[in-house]
Amino acid sequence: MGLTLAVVGATGAVGRIMVQLLEQRAFPAERVRFLASRRSAGSTVAFRGEQHVVEELTPDSFHGVDLVVSSTPDEVAGQYLPLAVKAGAVVVDESAYFRMDPSVPLVVPEVNPQAIERHQGIIASPNCSTIQLVVALKPLHDRARVKRVLVATYQAASGAGKRAAEELFAQAHQALRGEAVRAEEFPHQLAFNLIPQVGSFRDAGFTSEELKMMRETQKIFDDPTIQVCATCVRVPVANAHAEAVFVETERPVSVGEARQWFERAPGVRLFDDVEAGQYPMPIQVSGTDEVWVGRIRKDPTHPHGLAFWCVADNLRKGAATNAVQIAELVARKLVQAG
Ligand SMILES: NC(=O)c1ccc[n+]([C@@H]2O[C@H](COP(=O)([O-])OP(=O)(O)OC[C@H]3O[C@@H](n4cnc5c(N)ncnc54)[C@H](OP(=O)(O)O)[C@@H]3O)[C@@H](O)[C@H]2O)c1
Repeated sequence: MGLTLAVVGATGAVGRIMVQLLEQRAFPAERVRFLASRRSAGSTVAFRGEQHVVEELTPDSFHGVDLVVSSTPDEVAGQYLPLAVKAGAVVVDESAYFRMDPSVPLVVPEVNPQAIERHQGIIASPNCSTIQLVVALKPLHDRARVKRVLVATYQAASGAGKRAAEELFAQAHQALRGEAVRAEEFPHQLAFNLIPQVGSFRDAGFTSEELKMMRETQKIFDDPTIQVCATCVRVPVANAHAEAVFVETERPVSVGEARQWFERAPGVRLFDDVEAGQYPMPIQVSGTDEVWVGRIRKDPTHPHGLAFWCVADNLRKGAATNAVQIAELVARKLVQAG
């Protein structure tokens, strides 16, 4: 019998892309079910040439399901996904709820696919800003060991979900018409502005998003000595996150070496020709599955320092693509195990 897959949160910003990717990448599932909240139950999702009805997620939704890919708010994941595991399914979760649980592997297939082996039912996909950072750091860490990272993010509106993405466009229209700008999804007006707060404020003046980047990077590399200091900023860009990254490595890395390593690294697209005006930008990166790297240069303030710029589609590699890649690895094992 073929696999039964459930897509939880199939109507969300990430969930919709997951559905497209499952079809485009010919995911090896015989049956696929689509789940969301009561709000969207009864709506339809196009998949493999047919319209499928979205079901309401309930505690009984997982009967007969082998594999779940889930993309919901944290509290929904915490409430329902343990029930999926109890019902016998393996779960790949996009939310932050289980990421730092020591029994849950936190996986980026280009970086630590081996961690999947340790799963006890749930595998977590990291935060979008973390994913693009670790994919870019991996070739440097493998060859020169990354000791310290300073990173500033430029995060798109879609990173906060489909309602937030719509709010940016609504705000832009309101501002251009001279009307009062309404902010519900973001803490302030985002259109024609920058907001140096992604998530909520937590320890020592850092936001939840900044702490995720710092802690998740250490967990993915299985190295608590890598120091990361992040400043996360929401910018009025529709889709694709950018990051300015400063890395200190154990041994000095030349620009030439870094270029070669990035060029060969899985999941990385080197796009770095400043004379031709070529560097990654959200508009060109949106809709792609790679982490684009450019503006590579030596950090003149530290002999072991390197600076670069990277951009990735937060809904794809930062979320849906990463989760589907993990699910493909799990599905292969499930099929092999018969
Ligand atoms: N956006 C990104 O770039 C990104 C990147 C990495 C990780 N993530 C994480 O992925 C998750 C989803 O993010 P998103 O941006 O896709 O958010 P979103 O656009 O708001 O979508 C949320 C999804 O969850 C469903 N949902 C909400 N409450 C539910 C409930 N009580 N029961 C069942 N389903 C429920 C929604 O269904 P309805 O349509 O019925 O409301 C919708 O399908 C979040 O945990 C987020 O942190 C997002």
